[in-house]
Amino acid sequence: MHVTVDGQKVPAQPGETIAAVLHKVGRARVFCGIGVCFDCVVTLNEIPDVRACQRIAVDGDDVRTRS
Ligand code: FES
Repeated sequence: MHVTVDGQKVPAQPGETIAAVLHKVGRARVFCGIGVCFDCVVTLNEIPDVRACQRIAVDGDDVRTRS
């Protein structure tokens, strides 16, 4: 399974969060990791302000970071 991060195809494992996928490509911004701080927000499948640490990756997800 794969997730696209800012146009880059990244492999993902079942059960991984979007934040974990972002970590693989050095784009994770995770402070609390439990859904409280909102440091990890991304645009997911054109939905803005999704907390990456709270969403399980799904094959074909399109993630846009703010960096
Ligand atoms: S890292 Fe704090 S809400 Fe995701």
